[in-house]
Amino acid sequence: MLDIIINSFWLIIPAYCANLSPVLLKGKYPIDFRKNFVDGFRLFGDGKTIEGLFGGVFFGIFIGLLLIYLQPFITQFYALHFQHNFLTIFLLTTGAILGDIVGSFIKRRFRIKRGDPTPILDQLDFLILALVIVSIIIDLKLSWVIFLVIVTPLLHYSANICAFLLKLKSKPW
Ligand code: CTP
Ligand code: MG
Repeated sequence: MLDIIINSFWLIIPAYCANLSPVLLKGKYPIDFRKNFVDGFRLFGDGKTIEGLFGGVFFGIFIGLLLIYLQPFITQFYALHFQHNFLTIFLLTTGAILGDIVGSFIKRRFRIKRGDPTPILDQLDFLILALVIVSIIIDLKLSWVIFLVIVTPLLHYSANICAFLLKLKSKPW
């Protein structure tokens, strides 16, 4: 079990960091330039900004580079199942940010307003796309995926409640 926990978290940290940083940036410029989709509703909505997109990718990559730096020290104590490199970091961070945008696209198609809760989709959109994209170059274990699908919503809720208490978010989800 410890093996699953360590490898799963080691893998997903860049995606988590990419996903949590946009909320701190309070971006102003929506990625969709306030344009509507063919159904007459916003493409992504005001919650997906250009600042959040780049800020998330940069912060995820920054933390990822730190992981690459720390890897030789960690492997002295613990045999990780894979090693991060610039490509794994890049795929995880862009996958997370894109997954979150796809999630908003889906919400808008169901007429769900920006910021309204959509359980499961809100917590897992970024995770699923990050895992799918990084699986191109990392041989993911099913046990890691199952573990992350279970713990990510719990961490996501906790992080959002903290962001709400710190007045970074207007809603606690
Ligand atoms: N955010 C951003 N740019 C992104 C992603 C997120 O600026 N690419 C910021 C926005 O301020 C957003 C906040 O982070 O309100 C929280 O993100 P999220 O919960 O994903 O957005 P919601 O406002 O809930 O919008 P949606 O209903 O589209 O998920
Ligand atoms: Mg939300």
